[in-house]
Amino acid sequence: MIKLFEPLALRSVILKNRIVVSPMCQYSAEDGFANDWHLVHLGSRAVGGASLIIQEATAVSPEGRISPEDLGIWKDEHVPMLQRINAFIAAQGSVPGVQLAHAGRKASTFRPWSGEGVVAESDGGWPVVGPTDVPFNDNYPVPTALDANGIRKVVDDFRTAAGRALEAGFKVIELHGAHGYLLHQFLSPLSNQRTDEYGGTFENRIRLLLEVVAATREVWPENLPLIVRLSATDWTEGGWNADDTVQLSAMLKVRGVDLIDCSTGGNVPKAPIPVGPGYQVQFAERIKEETGILTGAVGLITTPAEAEAIVASGQADIVLLAREFLREPYFPLFAAQDLGAEVQWPAQYERARPHVHTAAGPR
Ligand SMILES: Cc1cc2nc3c(=O)[nH]c(=O)nc-3n(C[C@H](O)[C@H](O)[C@H](O)COP(=O)(O)O)c2cc1C
Repeated sequence: MIKLFEPLALRSVILKNRIVVSPMCQYSAEDGFANDWHLVHLGSRAVGGASLIIQEATAVSPEGRISPEDLGIWKDEHVPMLQRINAFIAAQGSVPGVQLAHAGRKASTFRPWSGEGVVAESDGGWPVVGPTDVPFNDNYPVPTALDANGIRKVVDDFRTAAGRALEAGFKVIELHGAHGYLLHQFLSPLSNQRTDEYGGTFENRIRLLLEVVAATREVWPENLPLIVRLSATDWTEGGWNADDTVQLSAMLKVRGVDLIDCSTGGNVPKAPIPVGPGYQVQFAERIKEETGILTGAVGLITTPAEAEAIVASGQADIVLLAREFLREPYFPLFAAQDLGAEVQWPAQYERARPHVHTAAGPR
């Protein structure tokens, strides 16, 4: 039995296999609006057989965008195009998910191919916020530390965005608590030097994330799953670490979170990250083992054999692939062929399915 192609139930949602499209910014939106690029990009991976497609970091407020071209879900007008995309994804037997995000002090930067560093307000940039008034590095904007009202607005924005996500037809929400963006900035003592109830102790630094989870769960139906992506470690002495992640994951498990998507890094410039095949799988394994919560492994998983080994050995319940899915949108269909699993191809593509030989020529 090929484990990678066994279904997984997350509350009422059934994933048809364990291969998930990891959220990937496309930096191709205008004023937060999805367009044909997003339809084709996400739709292609649904045709390619992914069980769950997590739409890129989607900003809960305009100031929460990484770049001016990020997707957004801060106004009702964003919803109709997302509905259209999600209906297409669902029609392929795939599950549409969304990563809700706020970039905090890493906002208002150029998309990778348009420049480097801060986008000035005169060029469509904006003032950024963070836990503390310390920038990520010299190339990033200096944030204003959020005050109590600002923190309340962040929580409210996530709640409202979750309501819109439901209306848009998403079946899974992933909260972006990783990669040095706002929620991670609060978690890590390296980026959070607050002295109020949102800084200092572990309990204080996790407070914002717990409030966002609770607010999301207020509007996100009981029968739909909630995922949190965490950076399991800052890879830096004195930073957020794997022990913290295990402790937090156990708390999230009893607060309505169904799965931890285990990434790392992003909060400390030039952190020494031992990048290599499956280098983050150890965190998914440890969190699963020590807390019993479902986990996702991500990071340089590029072959069907690697993906199968991770799921079959119980190191993680799902694998998330990013760059491999950009190279090969049909990765799941070919992985099935490679591993010898029977999967359905789209009816329109059936005649191209490998190992199905018929005499039927072109009609
Ligand atoms: C083009 C691109 C955009 C990305 N955007 C996001 C994002 O929006 N949210 C996120 O959590 N991670 C993002 N990532 C990180 C991926 O989701 C993934 O964690 C990382 O690339 C490692 O997986 P891989 O080795 O399979 O690419 C992005 C990665 C790439 C390559």
